[in-house]
Amino acid sequence: MIGAGYETTMNLIGNAVHALLTHPDQLDLVLTGRASWDDVVEETLRWDASIQFMPLRYTVEDVTLAGVRVPAGEPLLMGYGAAGRDPARHGHDAHLFDLAREQQGHMAFSHGPHYCLGAGLARMEGEIALRMLFDRFPALHLDSDSAPEREPSIVANVWESLPVRLR
Ligand code: HEM
Repeated sequence: MIGAGYETTMNLIGNAVHALLTHPDQLDLVLTGRASWDDVVEETLRWDASIQFMPLRYTVEDVTLAGVRVPAGEPLLMGYGAAGRDPARHGHDAHLFDLAREQQGHMAFSHGPHYCLGAGLARMEGEIALRMLFDRFPALHLDSDSAPEREPSIVANVWESLPVRLR
């Protein structure tokens, strides 16, 4: 619970901060009330999923996905991040961080019987943390003296460092 609930939510908050600071037009939409913090949470989960890939899932029976037959017992690599940018689902502009888009649902919390147990809590935590951060520091911006660095992982989509200036 601690592992599933902590790092994933930390990634959501870090990814949202990075997305907003690199898209000032989108940040302006939220700060002027034309988009909500809920929009930020959903669009971040779609556009920059906290977990990019989940390995070591196996088919328990034969399944056919998009015309491809996968026999029982095959190892699967779930691509939650790629699903969020699928143009067939999210349109030709799926690669853009756009708070005004009509959300089509995303896979960041997975799907089916193992759908994330903490999805509601994570959404609430993300919304509260981001709102309070930008309320307290509305001039928050990236530190131009040092570049952000991603952790080299195919599972966690996390910033190893995200240097910012508060004022
Ligand atoms: C943005 C934050 C979060 C993301 C992106 C996320 C993502 C996911 C994903 C993709 C799965 C499915 C993994 C699989 O395929 O087996 C999952 C399952 C799970 N998550 Fe989350 N999670 C988040 C926050 C949380 C929180 C806050 C909690 C609890 C405090 C939590 C608890 C769990 C648990 C217990 C499962 C296993 C559910 C099961 O197998 O039936 N998660 N989560």
